[in-house]
This record gives sequence, structure tokens and C-alpha cells, in this order.
Amino acid sequence: MITIKNESQIEKMRKAGALLHSVLEALRKEIEPGVTTLHLDHMAERLIREGGGIPSSKGYEGFPFSICASVDDQVVHGFPDKTKLRKGQLLSVDCTCLLDGWQSDSAFSVVVGGGNAEAQKLVDATERCFWLGAQQAVAGNRLGDIGHAVQAYAESLGYGVVRDLCGHGIGTEMHEDPNVPNYGNPGRGVRLQKGMTITIEPMISMGTWKVYCEDNNWTIVTRDGSPSSHYEHTLLITDGEPELLSWPGKRVSEVLK
Ligand code: MF3
Ligand code: CO
Ligand code: CO
Repeated sequence: MITIKNESQIEKMRKAGALLHSVLEALRKEIEPGVTTLHLDHMAERLIREGGGIPSSKGYEGFPFSICASVDDQVVHGFPDKTKLRKGQLLSVDCTCLLDGWQSDSAFSVVVGGGNAEAQKLVDATERCFWLGAQQAVAGNRLGDIGHAVQAYAESLGYGVVRDLCGHGIGTEMHEDPNVPNYGNPGRGVRLQKGMTITIEPMISMGTWKVYCEDNNWTIVTRDGSPSSHYEHTLLITDGEPELLSWPGKRVSEVLK
């Protein structure tokens, strides 16, 4: 069931998104060679709790951590651990936060310590996929318009669009209807309405879009071992450009100008 959020509910989602954004920005600054993803996980949990929130990924269907930390060929749902990050690795950090009963969900990818132009190009392209998808996330458009925009750009660069996982509706639950695929046909699928809250979260691989799940039953990895990047925000559908609930004040039109 797709739910339309009212103004007071949206205001709570803004607050959850603002907290999550501040946490992710703090994590981003912390990332450098030698840091462990478990350290980032502990930091995320501490900052979310200090902000009055709950790290809602921890315990979600048994997931043991507050962030997903996915390195290189890990696409999503990587387990944080004590391994030191190395220069040139591609790290994706995905985090959810529950505040006053409302969820926010956001992810970013970085090249640890820089110096890996190929991976940086993938990271930049994945972000651009997100913005192009977000540009289509307008009341009256359909989900296929979002998916098509993401897919067309990624595939124009020769990248693979992971299909096994999608964006999603979000509200009091982390995952609500509808599914928001990163592929599709313009004019097809569910029509977007003002007051819907969804995530757009392209997962883009340098090689194949085909993936498998690791033995931990969580972590999704590319079948060909190629690096993969992830970028995500929580959005509110309006009559104009979407409001980025997990990035206060950021405008799609400013990025794509
Ligand atoms: N943040 C993920 C998403 O984008 C879901 C995380 S699964 C969890 O949908 F188990 F880590 F919570
Ligand atoms: Co997420
Ligand atoms: Co999500």
C-alpha cells in the first residue's frame, strides 16, 4: 500500500533526514586509509543516538550493524569489520535513522584516499544517475521515468545497473511500497503523487549487473568481481522538483544546471 504523507508527518521525516545527513557528512570526513568500517559503524550509532534517533538498520531483519559498509565488488549490505581501509578502495556507506517514529535512508560512495580515477568516475556517474532519476521524480510522472533516466545514463557509459535491489517507499517503515527500480520504460509503472516519500538509490557496477549474495546471507556482490557504487537519498514528491528529505536545502536543479 502506498501512503501519502501529511504536512506534520513530512516535518518529522525532514527532521529524521536532517539528522541522517549530518551523520553521513561526519562519516564522510572520517574516511581515510587506515580507518576501519567498524569504527564508522560505531560512530554512526553514537551520532544518531546523540541526535535522539535510533539506528534502525541495527536489528532490521537481523542485520547486525548500524551502517552497511560495502567495499569494491560488494554492492550493498556489506558488514562493517576491523579491516583497515586502503587507499583506492571504493567504499559505499548506507545508513538509516529513525527519529520520532519516522525513517530516513541515505547512502554515498567514495574512493578511500582518492587516487583511483576509474573508481572515481563510477562514483561520479552513480551520483549523476541519482540526480537524473530525481529530476523525473515529479507528481504526474511514473516510476518508469525515474528508472529509465538512471538506466539510460549508466548504460551509456558501459556500466551495469543492478536490478535485484531497488529504491522504495519510506515512512514509518524503512521499506514501504512502491518498489523504485533503477531501470524501466518511460511512461510505465506507478504514477507519482504529491506527498509520496520514496528513495532513489542507483547501484551501478563497472561490469556486469549480475550479483550474488555472500554466505552471510546479506552482502550483495557483483558476479564478475567488478567494483560497484551506491548513492541514495530519501525524497518527497511535490508538484515541482522533489524535496531531498535527507539533504536539507539541496536542490536537484542546482546540481543538474
Ligand atoms: N539502507 C538499505 C536500503 O537502502 C537497507 C538496509 S538493510 C539493513 O534500503 F538491514 F541494513 F537495514
Ligand atoms: Co539505504
Ligand atoms: Co533504501
